[in-house]
Amino acid sequence: MSEVAWQKGWWRKDLLSIKELSREEIQMILDTADSFKEISTRDIKKVPTLRGKTVITLFYEPSTRTRTSFEIAAKRLSADTINISVSTSSVVKGETLLDTALNLQAMEPDIIVLRHSAAGAPDMLARALKASVINAGDGFREHPTQALLDMMTVREKKGSLEGLLLAIVGDIAHSRVARSNIYGFKKMGARVRVVGPGTLIPRGIESLGVEVFHDLREGIRGADVVMALRIQRERLEGAFFPSEREYARFFGLSLDVLREMAPNALIMHPGPMNRGVEITPDVADGPGSVILEQVTNGVAVRMAVLYLLAGGTRGEDLH
Ligand code: CP
Repeated sequence: MSEVAWQKGWWRKDLLSIKELSREEIQMILDTADSFKEISTRDIKKVPTLRGKTVITLFYEPSTRTRTSFEIAAKRLSADTINISVSTSSVVKGETLLDTALNLQAMEPDIIVLRHSAAGAPDMLARALKASVINAGDGFREHPTQALLDMMTVREKKGSLEGLLLAIVGDIAHSRVARSNIYGFKKMGARVRVVGPGTLIPRGIESLGVEVFHDLREGIRGADVVMALRIQRERLEGAFFPSEREYARFFGLSLDVLREMAPNALIMHPGPMNRGVEITPDVADGPGSVILEQVTNGVAVRMAVLYLLAGGTRGEDLH
């Protein structure tokens, strides 16, 4: 982004990836999210900022946190929200993603939030539509708002991401959350390790500037933040590791292995969790866990992204 564009504020039509954002843009989203967070603690959790704007969520994959928090975020900013459930839409009659989106565009929404199993689907819609497009997770590629809420949570707890050591543990190969967080944390000055069995770590991932570990204790040693990823039961068992019991034994986060982390380290998980597989309940619910704070911050981050894409700029009175 040029100096002039930065001084003017946000300039992007869409939010498609963390890879495309500059450090300054990430900082701008996180600062805006910080200023919105307080709204959710009020008795009346609503401001008129996006009155008259229309936000559509279009999810081709299941979601609890992302879809709900986009809807809550839009409603807290007074936007009109419409949630399209693919299973009860004309998608089941064979309508393509592009035709679906073009028909939605004909109703003049301002923002479409898309989750899709195909990497690059949000980029395709962004090129075709006048509305802003937000990537809410595309295949194995990226989940930018998840990484933004993760960065917000760590920044809140540690003051800055600069110089921190993040260890991401588990299925790196199939994780859009891992990819977005690698790009984001690296841009913000953190060191990043990926930890998991060889079958779940993509070859060549070192080119993203991460260190690779296949031993859990070594991988999380000295880490300030440890992020466990979901084992995708529906896809992985048998093909990538012998059994869930084996996986839990070698790569599950338990109180015992967490002794290796730095003092006051944070435990994160994007959800949904497989308790007893990638994380034990006493770790998930323990003192270092910020898992539910991640979810809380998800609303603030999505308010910030909706606000910026709808035309807001930093420095204005947000509420
Ligand atoms: N973290 C996350 O994307 O959760 P959902 O699949 O529930 O949205």
